[in-house]
Amino acid sequence: MKKAIITLLFSLVPVLGFAAGGTGYPLDPIETDPSDKASLQRGAMYYQNFCSACHATQFQRYERVADDIGIPHDLMLENLMPQSSKIGDLMTNGMRKDEAKVWFGAAPPDLTMVTRVRGDDWVYTYLRTFYEDPKRPWGVNNKVFPDVGMPHVLMELQGIQIDSCQGASPTERDPLTGEKICGLTVDPDRKGSMTPAEYDQAMYDLTNFLAYSAEPMKMERKQLGIYVLLFLVLLFIVSLLLKREYWKDIH
Ligand code: HEC
Repeated sequence: MKKAIITLLFSLVPVLGFAAGGTGYPLDPIETDPSDKASLQRGAMYYQNFCSACHATQFQRYERVADDIGIPHDLMLENLMPQSSKIGDLMTNGMRKDEAKVWFGAAPPDLTMVTRVRGDDWVYTYLRTFYEDPKRPWGVNNKVFPDVGMPHVLMELQGIQIDSCQGASPTERDPLTGEKICGLTVDPDRKGSMTPAEYDQAMYDLTNFLAYSAEPMKMERKQLGIYVLLFLVLLFIVSLLLKREYWKDIH
């Protein structure tokens, strides 16, 4: 028995390591909110404009997404779908895997489940930690996914970040220990169209949308849970009254 428990614990170790991001880079925690429709709509817009050219969310249909997050079908068709697609289609992607491998070194994976596989915090941090690295084919690297094959497709929004500990002169040192303080900051000469706070909000919305995609039933599940609890409370009261009724003459 003891052996079985130890084996079980050890078998969990890689899972835990994966959840922590693998690289040891601290993940920024977020709380996704499937009831925040405005955030999900903005997230869907970012996803369709910046991600769907390479990635698919092929376990979702446009129609379901539009209905779930409150986008009218005509707006969905006009703004958030490829022209050849119909509203009932799956959100697939025509990019050929073998070609993608040649371009990026790896095929862009389907993103329907990515927040379940990697975690919300990981995806949120990943989207915010691209930084300049001239050694990489696209000139950028990523803090939680080292040597990633994906280019920084959101550069026009975020600008280019530099790692203060790479390159010529590390700017800051800890006054007590003298150690370099590393961090990512947007290069003032290559700013994006958003401030860092606006970009964080945009990436929250995008992660929120991907978290919704991974579990579209989450809201319904929560609501159902509340009904089930209410039903149990009612059942308890009725049973109590019945019990009193049955036992009232027995002393
Ligand atoms: C130009 C094509 C391209 C675009 C556009 C693109 N990606 Fe990627 N993405 C890739 C490729 C290629 C990989 C695989 C990288 C690898 O394995 O090295 C990837 C990997 C990822 C991963 C890691 C998946 C995993 O678990 O390994 C996430 C998350 C991701 N992309 C999210 C996004 C989001 C969100 C957007 C939109 C903002 C986006 N991508 C836009 C090409 C793209």
